[in-house]
Amino acid sequence: MNIAILGGTGDIGEGFALNWAGNHHIRIGSRKADKAEIAAESYRDALAGQGMKGDILGFDNRTASEGADVIILTVPHKHVAGVIDIVRPVLDCQIIISPVVPMTKAEYFEYTPPTQGSVAEEILEMLPEGTSVVAAYHTIASGRLCSLDPTFKCDVMICGDDHHSKEVVIDLTDEIECLRPLDAGPLAAARTIESLTPMLLNLAMLNNLKDPSIKIL
Ligand SMILES: NC(=O)c1ccc[n+]([C@@H]2O[C@H](COP(=O)([O-])OP(=O)(O)OC[C@H]3O[C@@H](n4cnc5c(N)ncnc54)[C@H](OP(=O)(O)O)[C@@H]3O)[C@@H](O)[C@H]2O)c1
Repeated sequence: MNIAILGGTGDIGEGFALNWAGNHHIRIGSRKADKAEIAAESYRDALAGQGMKGDILGFDNRTASEGADVIILTVPHKHVAGVIDIVRPVLDCQIIISPVVPMTKAEYFEYTPPTQGSVAEEILEMLPEGTSVVAAYHTIASGRLCSLDPTFKCDVMICGDDHHSKEVVIDLTDEIECLRPLDAGPLAAARTIESLTPMLLNLAMLNNLKDPSIKIL
């Protein structure tokens, strides 16, 4: 598949690029094409350093989205609407994945959902007809993804209203050795799932934990 990773120059975008580049065409998106090209080159180098190959190229966010089968939005919540405005003209029937967590930090991390109930539902309202949203990966730490370490299996709660789109994301998750996909129900379940990330970050801060994730026993 062609997978566009918008804001793919950032922390968790790198993790998806490294893990999917062996099986898919990865298109790193950025506000600036040259920044994306530099990131793509560094991801290819990182894979080569581990004896692996990857098909990763860099583009501006809109060009990255053109012809993509799957688009993952790896940008902070406050920039999601701006990025969708830029790519909307090239959206038709892609699957949009949201790992986006709305939160603020003062003394502690706090969940700050939009009026729709979750960012995933907010994003759905911004998209053209025919585009589906799947929410996933909120509780996966970028450090764990980028390490390509398969030894610890984290669980990924995946929710969405379109059965086929959810199956695609479940299969993509299965391709990442350290992850186990779990069907978490309809898109509205994102309200609960997104809210787990501030809890994990507070646990990390208060208990000196590195890259905490969730595993259902
Ligand atoms: N990091 C994690 O461990 C983790 C885990 C689970 C979920 N998430 C979610 O994944 C998303 C990305 O997290 P991250 O930690 O990877 O974020 P990040 O590194 O802080 O930022 C990702 C990218 O966002 C783009 N960006 C920054 N300002 C922007 C603006 N004004 N307009 C448009 N794009 C802008 C940048 O790309 P360009 O400058 O190249 O445009 C940047 O590289 C967030 O919504 C977060 O809640 C993260």
